[in-house]
Amino acid sequence: MTTIRHLTDQLGGLAFGGDYNPEQWDEPVWKEDDELMRRARVNLATVGVFSWSLLEPEPGRYDFAWLDAHLERLHAGGIAVDLATPTASPPPWFTLVHPDALPVTPEGTRLTHGSRDTYCLAAPAYRAAARRVAGALAERYGHHPALALWHVHNEYATLCWCEHTAAAFRNWLRARHGSLDALNEAWGTTFWSQRYTSWEQVLPPRATQWHKNPGQALDFRRFWSDEALAAYREQRDAIRAHSDRPVTTNLMLPHYQNLDLWAFGREVDMVAIDHYPDAPGLDAAADTAFAADRARSFGGGRPWLLMEQGTSTVYAGDRVLGKEPGEILRHTLGHIARGSEGALFFQWRQSRAGAEQWHSAMVPHAGPDSRIFREVTAAGEAVARLGEPAGSTVTARIAVLHDSDAWWALESDGLPSAELAYHPALRRAHRALWDAGVTVDFAHPSTDLTSYQLVIAPALFLLSDATADNLRRYVRDGGTLLVQHASGMVDERLHAHLGGYPAAPLRQALGIRVEEHRPLGQDERIELSDGSHATAWSEALHTEGAQTLAAYTHGMLSGSPALTRHRFGSGQGWYLSTRLDDTDYAALIARLLDETGVGPELPGMPQSVEAVTRRAPDGRRWQIVLNHGSQTVSLPEPAHDLITGATAHRVPAGGCAVLRLA
Ligand code: GLA
Repeated sequence: MTTIRHLTDQLGGLAFGGDYNPEQWDEPVWKEDDELMRRARVNLATVGVFSWSLLEPEPGRYDFAWLDAHLERLHAGGIAVDLATPTASPPPWFTLVHPDALPVTPEGTRLTHGSRDTYCLAAPAYRAAARRVAGALAERYGHHPALALWHVHNEYATLCWCEHTAAAFRNWLRARHGSLDALNEAWGTTFWSQRYTSWEQVLPPRATQWHKNPGQALDFRRFWSDEALAAYREQRDAIRAHSDRPVTTNLMLPHYQNLDLWAFGREVDMVAIDHYPDAPGLDAAADTAFAADRARSFGGGRPWLLMEQGTSTVYAGDRVLGKEPGEILRHTLGHIARGSEGALFFQWRQSRAGAEQWHSAMVPHAGPDSRIFREVTAAGEAVARLGEPAGSTVTARIAVLHDSDAWWALESDGLPSAELAYHPALRRAHRALWDAGVTVDFAHPSTDLTSYQLVIAPALFLLSDATADNLRRYVRDGGTLLVQHASGMVDERLHAHLGGYPAAPLRQALGIRVEEHRPLGQDERIELSDGSHATAWSEALHTEGAQTLAAYTHGMLSGSPALTRHRFGSGQGWYLSTRLDDTDYAALIARLLDETGVGPELPGMPQSVEAVTRRAPDGRRWQIVLNHGSQTVSLPEPAHDLITGATAHRVPAGGCAVLRLA
């Protein structure tokens, strides 16, 4: 059994740096890179992510000389390396030798090279080539003194619907369902005459005429995630045979939900994520916290790593927005506050040519005499002073339930409303808690939840009886659970729960039974009896022991319960059957926090001030305070700030502090 080295032990502190692509430049620029990396306190560079065509210029012939030289140079400059396997972008020769390994869209179009990610993960030739190149890199660099971390692939995310995929999908289905009869039963194929009589008839969910079979679509998502995980494991094991450095892959959060991130969290030595907010200002800060809390949770609370962020990148619809002065540091510390062991960027130097030449970087086209590089340097200096909290973790008393199956199931065709998407529901719950200043974990609904005072289940559409029973036991044993509308409607095969929603064990914990869903019209906004307002969805529900806290006041639902609370065992099950307006939802969350006695990390602060505590196993604590607002705030207690090395009494507008707590 190999003992895996810890990243921060090797670095002697937190990581700071980014994707480094010296192969796009020449010697004078490398010399400048050495100098600028020193200035910016870079201590970790991700190398080789898209270098397959240089590393293996023709089948089976490797050229390592250029990489040897860069690794030596970085090492001489005291910079450790996060070495990537280049498998996210096979070279053009590969597609000519293995045209069958190119990806095929649901419509049947075979893509070709000319971009990146032009491979099918299920194609045997691709998988073999990926294992080979990963093994060759590991054999050569597995013990290199500069090597601190392995970066397998890049953002496993792309899907494929080709014949290799079909074959692998059938194998997966055989293993999951055992027989064709069981598959027919699971997918409900008697509906619309879809009954399969031989395995060859079973396909990935390709383009078809009308709604896709939801069971087929969900199983395909599960299958693909398992396929990606198998591809990851193969590379990891090929590396592990030659190296004792930690291995990971950069997970893309939060939009590409093509992976079961819990499963990846169990397989990587350290969870790593890429994060680019999708809205500016306070929304970007909240989104940073959302991504970071997910990353920490997927690794079971272990320290994790922010593998990529942008210096200016906020993807907002059809444009890329800049980050305001101070945001580079605040986003950096926003991730570190929530357990990241550092902060890396994509990428070190802005590319002069190529598909991402306009993507931001630590050294922009303008060069080091730029606001961006000065802010990067300031962030690097701050991170260099944060060695103390390395290895410490974050504890939360609240969990939001998060399940990939429920996410994928809510992407089924033919749902009763187009407004049932999972990600916005998840994000909304997290945002309300973030606004309230409390720290939140995400948790899988089937895990032990007893350490949490409060658990929130937004849009947990798919819920097996066994998992529903886990939630029932959580409430019975003293937990407070808020279940939101459209939860527990189907089981793990996407079959509706009969006799009233949600799943029976949950009905018991909540003391209610939902009889009918009544989605609201697009412009419909209803008022509840307590004066709150709601949109999108309503339900005809009956209490079976629960107390009604607010009732509907409109139409046929007038007088029937909308928000309920049930005392069950020694806990409480709350049920919210509609989508409350933001302020009313915030008020409900505040009430639940009050009832469960969970307060903000730093009481008395405006909403724009974020505070999180990291704790070491020996009891030491640090509180990271980020002031996203435009007013200076005074701290309740002055404390030593690791960034300035002096006692902090206040945190200026747009500023940060990392306080050593007594
Ligand atoms: C991802 C990729 C990078 C780069 C950035 C751009 O995170 O891993 O290669 O494309 O996106 O934001």
